[in-house]
Amino acid sequence: MPANTLENKIAFVSGGSRGIGRSVALTLADAGAHVMISYRSAAQEARSVVDQIQQMGRESVAFQVDVSQFNLSREIVEKVVEQFKKLDILVNNAGITKDNLLMRMSEEDWDAVINTNLKSVFNMTKAAIRPMMAQRSGKIINITSIAGIIGNAGQANYAASKAGMIGFTKSLAKELGSRNIQVNAVAPGFVETDMTAKLSEEQRKKLVENIPLRRTAKPEEIAAAVKFLASAAADYITGQVICVDGGMVM
Ligand SMILES: NC(=O)c1ccc[n+]([C@@H]2O[C@H](COP(=O)([O-])OP(=O)(O)OC[C@H]3O[C@@H](n4cnc5c(N)ncnc54)[C@H](OP(=O)(O)O)[C@@H]3O)[C@@H](O)[C@H]2O)c1
Repeated sequence: MPANTLENKIAFVSGGSRGIGRSVALTLADAGAHVMISYRSAAQEARSVVDQIQQMGRESVAFQVDVSQFNLSREIVEKVVEQFKKLDILVNNAGITKDNLLMRMSEEDWDAVINTNLKSVFNMTKAAIRPMMAQRSGKIINITSIAGIIGNAGQANYAASKAGMIGFTKSLAKELGSRNIQVNAVAPGFVETDMTAKLSEEQRKKLVENIPLRRTAKPEEIAAAVKFLASAAADYITGQVICVDGGMVM
């Protein structure tokens, strides 16, 4: 059996309707996993991801839920565990930006980003570790950002949420190591998704000039790292942050 096969694994990807989460969901399914996804409002996109996964012969369900809500997040994880009797892989991917200089940043935009990007990770993971601890195995992969490592002017809320995810990842790796649960983070650089589509051509050009590989990433390139961390090939890796950023952070 190849080390990266995910045959019969049960995976949950938050924010699986679009962008990186969509690509992660399809990649894990392609490797053999049954993949559940959550989304906030893009029902049609979520349906299309579920259809594609089912066409591969795997099980898939899309849950409409705001992952910043503690009880709602717990309920969907419990539903998955009730249906499949286990949970092998959790990918905390759902995220938003609400960029502004701190001088102009509203309390609402601070709270929205922290709650969607960071509190959601607490919400989902707290529910997911119960079955993982019982089964003495599990992979938790948090999609952070290089902004959480090097910071970014105009993104104090986003960078704080992503740095928080890194602290969470390392702490949990220490807490859960004895239960054979690996907790890691993937830090993308600049990825072509709806989240980055709003940048102007000029901003994009300037950004690419600072990327050693001189190009942006495709969502599949982030998904490849997630698939590796979710596989048995990464059984001895925990508490790490893997930058998939064309060399921006080194
Ligand atoms: N794109 C980049 O360059 C980049 C770089 C570094 C890190 N990241 C991180 O990668 C992750 C995915 O980013 P992306 O670029 O793929 O973003 P995206 O294309 O905007 O997709 C975001 C996904 O998250 C979901 N989502 C947002 N808020 C949610 C909520 N409250 N509850 C449930 N789901 C929610 C969205 O659901 P709907 O479709 O229903 O709205 C969507 O599926 C984020 O955590 C982001 O911070 C992205």
